[in-house]
Amino acid sequence: MNILVVNGPNLNFLGRREPEVYGKQSYHDLVNFLLAYGEMKKIDIEVYQSNSEGEIIDIIQNNYHRFDALVINPAAYTHYSYAIYDCIKSIPIPAVEVHLSNINEREDFRKISVTGKVCVATFLGKGFNSYIDAFKYLQKEE
Ligand code: DQA
Repeated sequence: MNILVVNGPNLNFLGRREPEVYGKQSYHDLVNFLLAYGEMKKIDIEVYQSNSEGEIIDIIQNNYHRFDALVINPAAYTHYSYAIYDCIKSIPIPAVEVHLSNINEREDFRKISVTGKVCVATFLGKGFNSYIDAFKYLQKEE
């Protein structure tokens, strides 16, 4: 199985941004953690990150054809990006949304997920392990 992982804005600041919410590990730690899991479970994983909405869409449009599924943490775009919603809707592979934090237990604006409406599942609140839950879900579906 091949999985495309796309991370949105400010996730490159992991470890530095609100460690009480997102933990002390860096973005580099996240990428290494995901790649190590992929190697162990024989899943080909490629991980991208962008702080820009258009670039996230370009990454998905230019790469989806090489993958069986998309795992996406759209970060703040989750809550208002109809452009990323349309992009996910337009690709013929399943998308799973992930969040490090539990967006349902934070500020009210985070309780709305626009992008989650076009994803087959959402995993949240488990830090890096939210991504692992998404991989496990997709492997079961395979
Ligand atoms: C996040 C939650 C979003 O609300 C926030 O804007 C992020 C990270 C998470 O992984 O918990 O940047 O997607």
